[in-house]
Amino acid sequence: MALPLRSLTPAPPDPILGLSESFKADTRPEKVNLSVGVYVNDSGVTPVIPSVLEAERRLLEKAGSKGYLPIDGRPGFKAAVRDLIFGAEHEIVTSGRSATAQTPGGTGALRVAADFLLQAGASKTIWLSEPTWPNHPQLFTLAGFVLRTYPYLDESGRQVDLHKMLGALRSAVPGDVVLLHGSCHNPSGVDPDQETWAAIGEIVVERELLPVVDFAYQGFGFGLREDADWLAGLARPGLEFLVCSSYSKNFALYNERVGALTIVAADPSRAASALSHLKIAIRANYSNPPAHGGDIVETILMDPTLRAQWEVDLAVMRNRILGNRAALVDALVAAEVPGMWEPIRRQRGMFALLGLSAAQVARLRDEFGVYVVGKGRINVAGLTPANLPHVVASVKAVIEG
Ligand code: LMR
Repeated sequence: MALPLRSLTPAPPDPILGLSESFKADTRPEKVNLSVGVYVNDSGVTPVIPSVLEAERRLLEKAGSKGYLPIDGRPGFKAAVRDLIFGAEHEIVTSGRSATAQTPGGTGALRVAADFLLQAGASKTIWLSEPTWPNHPQLFTLAGFVLRTYPYLDESGRQVDLHKMLGALRSAVPGDVVLLHGSCHNPSGVDPDQETWAAIGEIVVERELLPVVDFAYQGFGFGLREDADWLAGLARPGLEFLVCSSYSKNFALYNERVGALTIVAADPSRAASALSHLKIAIRANYSNPPAHGGDIVETILMDPTLRAQWEVDLAVMRNRILGNRAALVDALVAAEVPGMWEPIRRQRGMFALLGLSAAQVARLRDEFGVYVVGKGRINVAGLTPANLPHVVASVKAVIEG
């Protein structure tokens, strides 16, 4: 029996990770990889941050065990990341109306969130921002959701178009799922302010929507609590939602695959019941999570000295990205590259959307060896003093045609 392939045509490469493969195969010395969202320092290296190095040293010294973790992960990890997401004093924490499961990365959290929701009888319709992370549509489609989109950016591509966003969400049916980017919107870097989050919270209540917050970049924008503005919009009595968090970026633990799915319910008993169903989705997917990355995160968050070191490590990464934003804007303006660049300076997180056509993106790669994702999403962290002049000259060339 042959494999049940519908077509012998190979599937297209992944729109983000596939670019890294092409980049590796590219032999041009001037090539620049601004595609996948991975932090690098000025030498182009993704460092193991000092707090992680120390946590790993401590873990090695402990007599560990490679036994299975519980289906929903290590209790200490779950409590530590819950407090990180909401703040230990937040009502969601003190009331006990949330339940967290440790997952393999933020993507693992999204996938088990999708399975849990469909298995629990949620609406099969999910609303995604347009644009969104290219993996969202295929992840939710393959899990069994039907996709709808809400417009997110205005014509300039530099700010949220609240009017259009709310207009689209007004046509959602009660129970529909809405995916919101908690901070550092991927791909645009454009985040709602607190007032806008309040309006989003209103529409969620009015239309009885079920939010899933993709929170992959806490601390990469303006700070750990500053990046949780979404919470003020959604933390309302009785409003239930899910949070998919990732520790790939803020702990630089990309290949350890560490994340969490947190269910916020109306009361503690609903949270506990939801967790029992979530455990079925996890058991059927990957049984139980990998331990090492979660152990590192737990070790850091539970030790005051390591925690303080980690906050410094995080600030180093955040400030370098903010510095890169300023350097990019200054260079684009100085080179008189046509476009509206100034707002990029105050956007949040790893990404900026240059607003390029598919042909311009292809030309950047083929002619200049500059790898960016569709519509011109760049990983701002990938800019260095050495590659910035080439990137800016290449962007100018493709924009001016
Ligand atoms: C990205 O958007 O580049 C990152 O979230 C990495 C990934 O898995 O796509």
